Amino acid sequence: MGKHVLRVSGPPWLVTVGSRPNPVPEDIAEALAGAGHRLGPFTGRLSWYEEVPSTNDLAAVMAEHGVAEGCVVAANAQTSGRGRLGRTWASPAGAGLYVSLVLRPDSGVVPLITIAAGVAIADGVQAATALSPRLKWPNDVYVGPRKLAGILAEGGGSAGGMHHVILGFGINLLRAAYPPDVVDRATSIECELGRPCDRGLVLAECLAALADRYMALQRGEAETVMLAWRTRAAVNLGRIVEWDADGATRRGIAQDIDSRGALLVRVDGAVVRVISGEVRWVS
Ligand code: BTN
Repeated sequence: MGKHVLRVSGPPWLVTVGSRPNPVPEDIAEALAGAGHRLGPFTGRLSWYEEVPSTNDLAAVMAEHGVAEGCVVAANAQTSGRGRLGRTWASPAGAGLYVSLVLRPDSGVVPLITIAAGVAIADGVQAATALSPRLKWPNDVYVGPRKLAGILAEGGGSAGGMHHVILGFGINLLRAAYPPDVVDRATSIECELGRPCDRGLVLAECLAALADRYMALQRGEAETVMLAWRTRAAVNLGRIVEWDADGATRRGIAQDIDSRGALLVRVDGAVVRVISGEVRWVS
């Protein structure tokens, strides 16, 4: 973490967080500059930290203090990276991208943000690496049978009643990003390409794609985002899935998503909406 500034003036969130950002590394700064205004609301808004507990937690503090939409918090390492469903997200230094965005979306688009984010990270990784990631509901990013990236969207509000969504994403750049015991379930860009990638380019393309898909949602173009999700998830639709609900395991055939981002699963001739949690592939 940077030097403590508790007695130094600055934005109010800086006092709460207690550390100043570090200089943005040159490779990242160059790639972001190259993307220019394709970064939309994220243009010129990135704060870089060498190490934080969790970029989502830091972005949430900033959002609660009223920072504007579009702030980006990125770190070289996280000491308490968090995943979905209370899991941890391994975040060793330099092995992954660990990034969180402050969004202040119209309330109508909130249910689809997590879907749009999955599409955008897949789009961004593809633009930077030519890999062709697929999506597993709701927004896990896979290459073949292994997970490459994950997304954690968390909502909140502040005393002034300004609501926000913190959209965090982690992308495995190097095989060192995840513990050896998950090698059969996780992958990295390095593993898939057989060489390291340009992390700045991956970050810039992901932010550009997030800007694009988020602005589409805000313009009321949800259908284009859903269509893109279906294309990226097509290999997984029609498969048998299992999930846990009310203390029981349920099973059915994954069909589609609806306009609120729920997974529609056919079970014994009826369609069931799965709105949270995780599904497991059975075949
Ligand atoms: C998942 O479980 O698939 C979601 C993983 C999300 C990890 C990212 S890394 C940046 C941000 N900060 C966190 O603590 N988590 C998210």
